[in-house]
Amino acid sequence: MGEETNACQGPAHTPAGKTAAESAVVMTHQVLPHDANPAGNVHGGVILKHIDTAAGVVAMRHVRGWAVTASIDRMDFLRPVYVGELVTVKASLNLVGRTSMEIGVRVEAENLLTGEVRHTNSAYLTFVALDGLGCPRPAPPLIIDGEVAERRHRQALRRRELRRQAIAEERAGG
Ligand SMILES: CC(C)(COP(=O)(O)OP(=O)(O)OC[C@H]1O[C@@H](n2cnc3c(N)ncnc32)[C@H](O)[C@@H]1OP(=O)(O)O)[C@@H](O)C(=O)NCCC(=O)NCCS
Repeated sequence: MGEETNACQGPAHTPAGKTAAESAVVMTHQVLPHDANPAGNVHGGVILKHIDTAAGVVAMRHVRGWAVTASIDRMDFLRPVYVGELVTVKASLNLVGRTSMEIGVRVEAENLLTGEVRHTNSAYLTFVALDGLGCPRPAPPLIIDGEVAERRHRQALRRRELRRQAIAEERAGG
């Protein structure tokens, strides 16, 4: 009595591992006038939605099931994106925990008239795999296959540690 109970009981088995390439996506969108302010700069929230969508597709592809956004790390808007440009969102897995996944996203804007491509945003999102009852469920482990995957995995481990520290400090009122 009085103790908080957790209705989510995780399944015992862990699914088979998969590589980041198996779930990576590249999504493109042309910026339309309703996505932008009167000066023609695309709203930050529009870019954020594209980032969240692409990362969500990666997570669902990896688990072949539902997944929700648990957190989005700091996001910098490095350069403006203008109406008429093509936004390309590249997303892939960096790290898989037990039920959580860190997905790295890179956004580029292309001026269709000149062909100039600019890196405009990068972001790291954590998604959690859910079962049909909305409980976290084990995600397939990530197979680290090569130098790039190894570097991204190492950096993601560090970010996860910092994230956990920040959450613990916040909960402790620090
Ligand atoms: C995300 C959510 C399912 C986590 O639930 P929870 O009860 O905290 O689950 P757990 O404590 O069992 O943690 C599950 C995993 O999520 C990770 N996690 C939980 N909160 C997190 C956060 N804020 N940031 C990063 N990871 C987080 C845990 O580290 C754990 O990872 P692991 O299994 O790989 O070790 C829950 O907070 C939720 O439903 N949030 C709302 C999601 C949502 O509506 N998103 C927007 C729309 S998609």
